[in-house]
Amino acid sequence: MTYPRAGETYLPPEYWSALHDAANDLGVAGYPTLPLVFNSHVYANSARGVLRGFAAAGVSVRDRAVLDVGSGTGFWVDLWRREGAANVAGSDLVPTAVERLRERFPGSDFAAADITEQAPFPDATFDLVTVMSVLHHIVDEQRFDRALSNLASQVSSGGVLAVLDPLVMRGRWMPAGGESAHNVVRTLARWEEASANAGLRIDAVIPTVAFLGDPVDAGSRSAFALHRFFWRGLTSSVRGRDRLASVVLPPLAALDRTALSRTRAGLSAKLIVLRRR
Ligand SMILES: C[S@@+](CC[C@H](N)C(=O)[O-])C[C@H]1O[C@@H](n2cnc3c(N)ncnc32)[C@H](O)[C@@H]1O
Repeated sequence: MTYPRAGETYLPPEYWSALHDAANDLGVAGYPTLPLVFNSHVYANSARGVLRGFAAAGVSVRDRAVLDVGSGTGFWVDLWRREGAANVAGSDLVPTAVERLRERFPGSDFAAADITEQAPFPDATFDLVTVMSVLHHIVDEQRFDRALSNLASQVSSGGVLAVLDPLVMRGRWMPAGGESAHNVVRTLARWEEASANAGLRIDAVIPTVAFLGDPVDAGSRSAFALHRFFWRGLTSSVRGRDRLASVVLPPLAALDRTALSRTRAGLSAKLIVLRRR
């Protein structure tokens, strides 16, 4: 499995169908080329960061009607259920993923829908709509705008749209055009513009990990380069080495949690909390 490099063709339905056909574990939606234990630790830190972000932004899951868009293998669906949501619906672009979600969560509704084309449940609204690690894979800007409008249409009055996505707040040090064709990293200014057009207001942007994630955001070119050096070294040394990953990841994950709680700064994905205007 390889990522489409910058400049190569990225066809989302084909790309995501191939991934879902190849496996049904956290790697499908996380880092498919890296050991499961690596993905487990990254997801665990991310979940902890998101729940802390929810607490800080006054977002509640308990007793809420929740929709998770781009559910993948269902990590967040499972978390929202365990956090006491009244009900959790979900959706994905890939029909195979949706069939598996229906089998895994028989009490929940799932729809196969491309969020850039349609709202998955056009006749319903939800207190909380989540879209986790999905929107940065919508690389076409017009489709991104349509996705935000479709998402906004699923949020009830007074409700929240919560997004997990890489977002540049401090400085963009990426090479022009990014490094792979299936990812785009947007600036806060672009997010603000697209949100306003969709009738949404950004309430909070909160880092969910300190350094345990793709290099995205840094206060200087050298800080970005250092993070990228670390991340490339880590990912290339654990690729195909489950035992090494299971030794290295626990202390790194603990360090990441400590760093995040001390500094509240993050070099990678952010939780973006949006409300309807
Ligand atoms: C990186 S995975 C994230 C999955 C899940 N949210 C998670 O964090 O574990 C991206 C998921 O979004 C789905 N997806 C990609 N483009 C989509 C679109 N336009 N509409 C709906 N789902 C999409 C993919 O099939 C895949 O399951």
